[in-house]
Amino acid sequence: MDDYRTKRVLVTGGAGFVGSHLCDRLIRDGHEVICVDNFFTGTRANIAHLRDEYRFEVLRHDVTHPLYIEADEIMNLACPASPIHYQTDPVQTTKTSVHGAINVLGLAKRLGIKIFQASTSEVYGDPQVHPQTEDYWGHVNPVGIRSCYDEGKRCAETLFFDYHRQVGLRIKVARIFNTYGPRMHPNDGRVVSNFIVQALTGEPLTIHGDGSQTRSFCYVDDLVEAMVRMMATPDSVTGPINLGNPGEFTIAELAERVLALTGSKSELRRLPRPSDDPGRRRPDIGLAKRTLGWEPRVSLAEGLPRTIEYFDDLLRRRGRAAVPGPA
Ligand SMILES: NC(=O)c1ccc[n+]([C@@H]2O[C@H](COP(=O)([O-])OP(=O)(O)OC[C@H]3O[C@@H](n4cnc5c(N)ncnc54)[C@H](O)[C@@H]3O)[C@@H](O)[C@H]2O)c1
Repeated sequence: MDDYRTKRVLVTGGAGFVGSHLCDRLIRDGHEVICVDNFFTGTRANIAHLRDEYRFEVLRHDVTHPLYIEADEIMNLACPASPIHYQTDPVQTTKTSVHGAINVLGLAKRLGIKIFQASTSEVYGDPQVHPQTEDYWGHVNPVGIRSCYDEGKRCAETLFFDYHRQVGLRIKVARIFNTYGPRMHPNDGRVVSNFIVQALTGEPLTIHGDGSQTRSFCYVDDLVEAMVRMMATPDSVTGPINLGNPGEFTIAELAERVLALTGSKSELRRLPRPSDDPGRRRPDIGLAKRTLGWEPRVSLAEGLPRTIEYFDDLLRRRGRAAVPGPA
């Protein structure tokens, strides 16, 4: 691994859920951070605690437009990650992934710097291989309602690898699986935040289908640790590397755990499965273990209470109606 010197790191999507935790970590490690965000799903509240930090800067900017800035590394996270948000304006979602990638890759090329891409397990689509390894090409609907995100992220990966092959750019592509934790958007419809907010507000927990579909849940601190380690790998390590927690839970099991931990009396309400909703999702993280010497440490039993505490505090302070939706 490279030695970990002080750097100026450009984090796109730095005001979002994962991005804000990454900014925290980079600041804690002694780096300078330039957070670039258009605040579509990210909030100023997520980074408010960094406001007086002299090594932290925020720039309101949409990555679909070119950006000229000096930095030592780029971590590209800008993109709404939840279906509710990325389906609000699907054309903008594709533009964010594709034009955004072109713009940050162009910047990295001009500066000759290393660049990280937050890709996603969604590049595997509704997978026919379990667990998913990085050499699986996926099973993706190119014309469905999730395609703006899935295909946008796939095209972004293509761009990263073509910049690597064509101009020798140093790239790190991580395929992130479901991640949860404090600062998730309370109204984003993702299953963990959805269940917790529903349980805390006494609303029915909405289960799509019979609840037998599985997901794996990675706590955000584990993900950030893996991202930082990946950036410190030798240039020969380009990815893609799966990052996630291989523990597999059914949606019904998750609902039961949330009810038990919150002590909520909420009922379960069954809704139809949305189209292209994957039946099973679980990462094979063998490559991450071997390459990064990393594996998740925070179990669902530890991570869920921390996340519940965050939402409980948020809802007490602001009330559900006061929580802003996407701009
Ligand atoms: N959280 C997960 O489970 C997960 C899983 C797979 C991949 N990812 C990827 O990780 C990244 C971060 O995800 P997250 O969960 O923090 O989502 P998020 O929605 O909380 O964060 C995304 C951030 O990007 C910003 N953004 C969106 N479009 C932008 C644009 N055009 N210009 C500038 N900023 C823009 C948003 O305002 C937000 O702050 C995303 O790229 C996502 O695809 C996340």
